Amino acid sequence: MKLRRWMTAGAVAVATVAALNTVPAAANRPYDPTAQSLAALGLRHGLQVGTAVDMAALNDTSDPQYRRLTTSEFSSVTAENAMKWESLEPTRGAYDWAAADQLVEFAKRNRQSVRGHVLVWHNQLPAWLTSGVADGSISRQELRELLRRHITTVVSRYKGKIWQWDVVNEAVSDPWDTPSTLHYKGFWAQNLGPGYIADAFRWARAADPKALLFYNDYNIEAFGSGNPADDKPQFVHDMVKGLLAQGVPIDGVGSQGHLGTQYGNYDTLQVTAALKKFAALGVATAFTEVDVRSEMTEAVQAGNSAEINPRLQASAANFSVLMKACLAVRSCLSYTVWGFSDKHSWVPGWFNDPPQGMATIYDESYQPKRAYHELKSDLIFAGPPYVLPRIAPKPRR
Ligand code: XIL
Repeated sequence: MKLRRWMTAGAVAVATVAALNTVPAAANRPYDPTAQSLAALGLRHGLQVGTAVDMAALNDTSDPQYRRLTTSEFSSVTAENAMKWESLEPTRGAYDWAAADQLVEFAKRNRQSVRGHVLVWHNQLPAWLTSGVADGSISRQELRELLRRHITTVVSRYKGKIWQWDVVNEAVSDPWDTPSTLHYKGFWAQNLGPGYIADAFRWARAADPKALLFYNDYNIEAFGSGNPADDKPQFVHDMVKGLLAQGVPIDGVGSQGHLGTQYGNYDTLQVTAALKKFAALGVATAFTEVDVRSEMTEAVQAGNSAEINPRLQASAANFSVLMKACLAVRSCLSYTVWGFSDKHSWVPGWFNDPPQGMATIYDESYQPKRAYHELKSDLIFAGPPYVLPRIAPKPRR
């Protein structure tokens, strides 16, 4: 008790987390943190380390490594596609829950938390919905009601089983869009106006009082000019501030973290500053879809190490920058990679002009790359006074 009194709250939390997670070293064998999983090392900081899960790969019995590593290395899972609207309701009125249910059960069996992804997004919508809106057979009013029902149905089904929900995804335009002044973009804003965002959070909250409700987007890892007309993180910041002022139950901002080694990269303190700025609004933060892709030149594809090595190094450095920033900000609750092996990454299929790849922390044969080792090192070498355990917000009413 006496001890407790002079310890700061943070130190008490560190002591508690350490007591819970220290693996007793065998008498003759020193404790070796490098042999621990990312999940175990993350827990020392109260940080969940997650991955997106490809259900086909998880169920592929000829690819057992995928399931083994999904289970052993990660404390959190996200459905890469299985909870998107087109997957859940391919035919109007007929929900197919099989894959999403399977992931939620898998997570429970493995004591993993689930990031629900995604309730409202302009991509991967069922064709019946988008064509119905396009041909006028679904009115605006009906569309809003369909969205309300969808959110209510999905969130209710998994009530109490989802830790964080990505309620709204990628609602904001990019500087390369037309008009270039940042604005609310895409199917939902076009058809319902930006008010759908507040509605979505309220409907999600009504269906699950305990899930943390997130806004999720890309290219918000570091602030730029600070002008919301051209600085996407600033636009998102101001949007969240506005929603909170209206009493909208938003609990977090998810920064996807899709980076590329060919771009100007961020440094740790820039990213830390961005997380702090979001956290100052009183919301949690998270990295939700981290991968760091590279251009696959002919030399890279031919195995030329002079081109491969700098990519592996830059990729590892970028993974590490986001991890260190996350560790440094106590509101950063989780760090999720968007697939963990180059064998199952969305990047080659999505970015092909020029071809890109090498975006994950394990190669195609499930060998850990230097990015994996850097993440591990970051988790091992971090600790007080700068890195303290996470502080999770209470879900907002
Ligand atoms: C991607 C999946 O990884 C692909 O399998 C799918 O074909 C397209 O969507 N931002 C998001 C994710 O929020 O849902 C996207 O996932 C990647 C970009």
